[in-house]
Amino acid sequence: MTDQPSHLEKAIAEQLHSAHGLDLEAAARRAADMQHRLAPRFATWVRRELTILESRDRKRSRAQAPRPRAAAGGREFQRFSLNVRLQHAVMAVSVIFLILTGLPLKFSDLAISKGVINFFGGPDVSPIVHRVAASFLIFVGLWHLAYIALTREGRAHFMLLLPRPQDARDAWQQINYFLGRTDQRPRFDKFSYVEKFDYWAVYWGMVIMIGSGTVLWFTNQFLKVFPKWFTDIAKEAHSDEALLATLAIVIWHFYNVHFNPHKFPMNPTFITGRISEQEMIEEHPLEWERITSGAPLGPADSRPVEEKGGQR
Ligand code: HEM
Repeated sequence: MTDQPSHLEKAIAEQLHSAHGLDLEAAARRAADMQHRLAPRFATWVRRELTILESRDRKRSRAQAPRPRAAAGGREFQRFSLNVRLQHAVMAVSVIFLILTGLPLKFSDLAISKGVINFFGGPDVSPIVHRVAASFLIFVGLWHLAYIALTREGRAHFMLLLPRPQDARDAWQQINYFLGRTDQRPRFDKFSYVEKFDYWAVYWGMVIMIGSGTVLWFTNQFLKVFPKWFTDIAKEAHSDEALLATLAIVIWHFYNVHFNPHKFPMNPTFITGRISEQEMIEEHPLEWERITSGAPLGPADSRPVEEKGGQR
């Protein structure tokens, strides 16, 4: 008994015949050969089209329904505790102030820089605002270290954020997915390699900015102990890392949490700490499977909101 050609095979043969002029027999032979190679890519294209359509549908229903995340039907999970959200809020506000009062010094020739410095009280007050914001950044850095050292949740989060060989494999698979070489997306646990990179970028950024900023703040005292090149290097490091950090935030971080078409205009998790079940399944399937398997929950696992009776 001969195998019937699949729909895909028939469609390829038809295309080869009508658009490329192959006779029917040659088109059928070539289609049988091509379908195995085209099938995985075809599946990828279909998935992409579906994702675009779903995202359009979501936008449409978001416009109609006042609370789309709850209205999506599924449960919500508490992904981040109040402690984590407060740390994030203090850091975000202080970094915004640091960028607005720092970059105008780096680009002091620009007219807009003068306007921004004047907005923050002029050349005498703006450096004070920078130092006050810097103090908040140092405070939140210490708070975070204490959170890791002293709380079970903090320690568990930290362990989950450590880079592992699986992250490199996930990144490689993601690239292959984007190139259409596979239709299998990498499956993430609580933190994807992108989120881990975001987290560790802040660590090294904090070390450089607080270290070099302290040297700039107390330059006279440092010059009594160190040669001038030491404070010069601190100024260069501070100035260059400031630009790098700003670009990383605006391009990398804002894309992931604001401008990504699936998140636009913003991912509200940083305010509510919650994530919809749909997002859990799509973005953190390994964590979702663990949580819903009935196994005991770890201190860093997201919890269904009903279980906690609201926010923590
Ligand atoms: C995200 C964090 C930060 C950003 C984006 C930032 C940005 C900047 C920039 C662009 C400059 C001007 C450098 C130049 O003239 O080329 C500057 C100066 C300065 N920064 Fe920062 N900074 C940050 C954190 C800090 C911290 C944590 C401290 C203190 C520990 C600090 C203390 C200073 C001081 C003392 C100056 C010298 C200018 C002045 O007197 O106001 N900065 N900052």
